[in-house]
Amino acid sequence: MSRATKKSPAAPAAPHKVAPAKGKLGVLCVGLGAVASTFIAGVENVRRGRARPIGSLTQMGTIRLGKRTEKRSPLIREFVPLADLKDLVFGAWDPVPDNAYQSCLHCGVLDKHEHVEPIADFLKSITPMPAVFDQHYVKRLEGKNVKKGKNKRELAEALRQDIRDFKARHKCDRLVMVWCASTEIFIVPGPAHKNLAAFEKAMEANDPSIAPSMLYAYAAIMENVPFANGAPNLCCDVPALEQLARDRGVAIGGKDFKTGQTMVKTVLSPMFKARMLGVAGWYSTNILGNRDGEVLDDPESFKTKEESKLGVLEYILQPKLYPELYGDLYHKVRINYYPPRGDNKEGWDNIDIFGWLGYPMQIKVDFLCRDSILAAPLVLDLAIFFDLAQRAGLSGIQEWLSFYFKSPQAAPGLYPEHDLFIQQTKLKNTLRWLMGEEVITHLGVEYYEYADR
Ligand SMILES: NC(=O)c1ccc[n+]([C@@H]2O[C@H](COP(=O)([O-])OP(=O)(O)OC[C@H]3O[C@@H](n4cnc5c(N)ncnc54)[C@H](O)[C@@H]3O)[C@@H](O)[C@H]2O)c1
Repeated sequence: MSRATKKSPAAPAAPHKVAPAKGKLGVLCVGLGAVASTFIAGVENVRRGRARPIGSLTQMGTIRLGKRTEKRSPLIREFVPLADLKDLVFGAWDPVPDNAYQSCLHCGVLDKHEHVEPIADFLKSITPMPAVFDQHYVKRLEGKNVKKGKNKRELAEALRQDIRDFKARHKCDRLVMVWCASTEIFIVPGPAHKNLAAFEKAMEANDPSIAPSMLYAYAAIMENVPFANGAPNLCCDVPALEQLARDRGVAIGGKDFKTGQTMVKTVLSPMFKARMLGVAGWYSTNILGNRDGEVLDDPESFKTKEESKLGVLEYILQPKLYPELYGDLYHKVRINYYPPRGDNKEGWDNIDIFGWLGYPMQIKVDFLCRDSILAAPLVLDLAIFFDLAQRAGLSGIQEWLSFYFKSPQAAPGLYPEHDLFIQQTKLKNTLRWLMGEEVITHLGVEYYEYADR
């Protein structure tokens, strides 16, 4: 057989049935702060041809299909039926009553004259719905635009009504919800999260282990709206909501957008392991001065973030398998609120590694990034891919989207995959599998004579 006609081992399956992306897609953001307003204003600027959607895989990425010799690499958005940007409509909840225009100006991420004023009318039309908010869960925040209810169940029902009203008002065909709100205090999964009956009883009893984020997730799932969690709080990462999502055929996933320091960590640490280089210590510190930084200055919210940031090295480096290389690794993560920096975060990493015969070496990373500029395209991709998952009938946890998360949810009993490039392969292979294309294993023996032996 010639190289061009030989089949590679991962033969294509039949394409999945994916409902077409017709009509409007409502994107409901929980929180209308820096990330959400930068996302919304960004999409509108792109729609008006005023900027490019840089950082968005759904808008700019291509996907290789078939063998390397076939030279087929369409844009992802031309290969899979994704919602078009022109069909997106936006809604939000926030305890702070600022509209998207005021929020953009307050957060100061986008240039006022270049990207905010020219679309001011559009941004002013997006006003947040009253939030389900309780300061017990986000200590450093106060807000007046808040729902009242006799218990948490009633508040969840009010969110469900908001969802139905938004869908009708904007004549949406489908909706998707993304948590872009503040990081809540650290909560461990407990009896109230075990199953739906316990969860609903706990909502009625105003159990403190039911955080507002869980009420949004519950409301979304009950309304068959896919839900993605961009913050590290538990939210839909509890058995009751995972089961509810599976039972109702709703796509869910999280946690915590992987945008900066952790993204770098999940690229560098697989490199060390691939080369069998040891790591003695990894010290990560950050300064940031936006509202997120202020919220994370509270030890209870920081604890939630810390857990999400610390997990990745343990999973990637597998110290139990490689005790000599990673058994004594000292890993520290710090976030310091430093107002002068605003959204322009700076993250430093000092990595103490060791090589041949144990000789020590160092790597320093100084990551000068803009938090919300990195996060906004992730919100777009998550909204678009979660909508695809829902139309393709993929219910429950969407592990193939772990590419976007610092602390990805995975099926019970499965450890999460953190390596950025394994996550990317998983994502693209899922798209190939959905569309009945050959899954790419990178084996590549079909290009060489020894494949015939
Ligand atoms: N920017 C990044 O790179 C990045 C990366 C990973 C995770 N995150 C997470 O994304 C979230 C948003 O970040 P941000 O920079 O936009 O923060 P932000 O403080 O600017 O915005 C968060 C908004 O959520 C609102 N909010 C808080 N509780 C709410 C509730 N119960 N219901 C509705 N709204 C609520 C706040 O009032 C605020 O307007 C944070 O949790 C942050 O940790 C951001």
